[in-house]
Amino acid sequence: MKGVVLTGAGISAESGVPVFRGDDGLWEGHRIEDVATPEGFARDAETVHRFYNGRRRRLLEVEPNAAHLALARLAREWAGELVLVTQNIDDLHERAGSPEVVHLHGELLKSRCTACGVVRECRDDLSRASLCEVCDGIDCLRPHVVWFGERPFHLGEIEQALDSADWFVSIGTSGRVYPAAGFVLAAKAGGARTLELNLDPGALASSFDESRSGRAGELVPAWVEEVLAAG
Ligand code: OAD
Repeated sequence: MKGVVLTGAGISAESGVPVFRGDDGLWEGHRIEDVATPEGFARDAETVHRFYNGRRRRLLEVEPNAAHLALARLAREWAGELVLVTQNIDDLHERAGSPEVVHLHGELLKSRCTACGVVRECRDDLSRASLCEVCDGIDCLRPHVVWFGERPFHLGEIEQALDSADWFVSIGTSGRVYPAAGFVLAAKAGGARTLELNLDPGALASSFDESRSGRAGELVPAWVEEVLAAG
């Protein structure tokens, strides 16, 4: 048996990490094109650095919740092959104990050098004055995250997993951002049974075989119990 889990911002909401799509259409008070596009970074790198520095500092203060812990338990105890894909740039799955996490949209606690390409762990603030310790370049580090207009990571690997999955479960994602929003249809085309766990039915609820509404901290542990009981 093979299962693919996709998580989004909703799984980290109960840890205190804000979701993206506020009612005002802004992302923590910023326009998405200013802080999450290559063009925004080229225009005003300091603003983009300040935005991610704030998110990085807050991430270091929060903890994984019951939903992250339940998925780590599934990886440990389920006999099948589990592929965990996340759109989240936080490290809460790793801290909960999930052994392998496929980060479609990159990782906030890593930097990438735009000059030499090296990706390194990054827990401190970045700025235009930050030095790349590998190539000695200045003004060349950026957060190792995927911005709108950039190609997400690991797409080939994910496509293969979806194609051969027996089931696909989507947790806490609004289903508004592609390519992740297309994963449910790819999984179905490969013959998988599909389930959505979300606070409210997402944009793609009708594409799933089953949709359950509620908080991830309750729905995910209950669903993991079911999978483990089924063996
Ligand atoms: P969104 O903010 O679009 O959606 C979060 C979803 O989580 C919504 O459907 C909420 O109903 C649900 N939710 C909120 N609290 C929840 C809870 N306690 N339990 C369960 N569900 C809950 O976040 P994503 O779908 O992850 O991309 O956003 C996808 C991508 O858009 C992000 O990765 C990011 C963003 O812009 C990039 O930055 C490239």
